[in-house]
Amino acid sequence: MLPSDPMSHGVEGILPVVLAAGLGTRMKSRKPKVLHELCGRPMLAYVLAAASEVGGRKPLVVYSSATEAIRSAFAEHADFALQAEPLGTADAVKAALAVAPDEFEEMLVLSGDVPLVQTDLLIELIDLRRSRNAAVAIVGVHSTDPEGLGRVLRSEDGGQVLRIVEEKDATVEERDIDEINAGVYAFDARWLRRRIHDVKPSAVSGEFYLPALVELAREDHRAVVSLEVEDDGTLAGVNDRSQLAAAELELRMLINERHMLAGVTMVDPIRTYVDVTVELAPDVVLEPGVILRGSTRIGEGTRVGAGSQIIDTVVGRDCVVWASILESSEVEDEVQIGPFSHLRPKSSIGRKARLGNFAEVKASRLEAGVQQHHFSYIGDAEVGERTNVGAGTITCNYDGARKHKTKIGKNVFLGSDTMLIAPIELGDGARTGAGSVVTKDVPAGMLAVGVPARLRKPAAGTEPDDR
Ligand code: UD1
Ligand code: CA
Repeated sequence: MLPSDPMSHGVEGILPVVLAAGLGTRMKSRKPKVLHELCGRPMLAYVLAAASEVGGRKPLVVYSSATEAIRSAFAEHADFALQAEPLGTADAVKAALAVAPDEFEEMLVLSGDVPLVQTDLLIELIDLRRSRNAAVAIVGVHSTDPEGLGRVLRSEDGGQVLRIVEEKDATVEERDIDEINAGVYAFDARWLRRRIHDVKPSAVSGEFYLPALVELAREDHRAVVSLEVEDDGTLAGVNDRSQLAAAELELRMLINERHMLAGVTMVDPIRTYVDVTVELAPDVVLEPGVILRGSTRIGEGTRVGAGSQIIDTVVGRDCVVWASILESSEVEDEVQIGPFSHLRPKSSIGRKARLGNFAEVKASRLEAGVQQHHFSYIGDAEVGERTNVGAGTITCNYDGARKHKTKIGKNVFLGSDTMLIAPIELGDGARTGAGSVVTKDVPAGMLAVGVPARLRKPAAGTEPDDR
């Protein structure tokens, strides 16, 4: 379920099929249900990862015109079968068989909306079917909340699966059964090819149900086998947004557990949100309410404070990020950011830099040791080593029509409330007075003061320290 090498333990000769043509109306969404995300990846990505890991090949995804978007989203990861109209899960499998190569003797059928299914369980299911040469193998889950799902009807001694009844078709007594059909199956593909056409539509809903194959197998005196499992959340189906949230919680806990066992401290794992794609080094500390998204990577010993959001950003070792938002940027080692700072895309922060309260940086490079402590904006700029950005300093990078660049040398001292009207360049060791509006380049070592700023030579003995 977590991303893994797709070829790691493929089972020979089995075709994995994923059903994803249903309308998903209960989601009440413009988007196909299986494209809704869990911890940063569409639901279908998890099912495809499990299916290809077990099958050792690209899975075959059944889609319909209503779920066309799936095809472009997963073009490289699957083959596709079009179901002309979503007439039910048996009809979907019929569409898969119509394009499936003949050589497959077995078919693994997964539902695109049962995203947390584990590969171990799938392998167990396949082995069980093979060992009994069964026509069908199903998974029955003892569920505390069977509402809306298909119930597994067994013989009196509980040994044999007689049939599966959908809730809409079930009697009151049948609805009391707590064993539900997980929607995950292994089939004898040759038998399935012959018998799929004999599935009759439900008298209640008019849909062609895939679980109806259980009864057809029994008619043929073929074995029907089942794995009976307790409900650990990994077989939960997602039909509406409430179930989407429940599945995400389940997955989030699995992800967090994995990081904690690998040496990450989570002060409150229930309220820590880490996408499946994020990488964390040992001794990272995540405080409550932290959200880490996309391709974010965080180095050893870095502490991310409460409420921070880090998106597609690489953060080095031994940094501290307090209540800040970092987007599509890079942060080197031992940097301190926040509280309440914002790195906008394409920012790069050098070693030991300090960004303090309400610092905003966009598409800029701040070299090592830059200090930008209070209420300031640096955009489209390069700032040299150990330069001090005074409180309230702004790079005025936008003239109303175009963006312009600012280049600031090293060991520059920008007085409080300096406005730098870009395009502009300040040489190494340059200085600006408080409240100055700098419209022209300042050569190295010179002081700019006033509105608009005029250049002066600083008085001897007043140079900032070359720290
Ligand atoms: C299905 C099972 C039910 C089981 C439950 C487990 C049937 C008839 N019922 O019910 O026994 O307990 O899953 O989660 O199979 N799909 C298609 N084409 C269609 C209809 C559906 O591809 O014409 C796909 C859907 O996109 C979905 C999957 O099949 O990914 C299951 O369909 P859904 O309508 O969600 O079935 P459930 O009512 O959940
Ligand atoms: Ca479902």
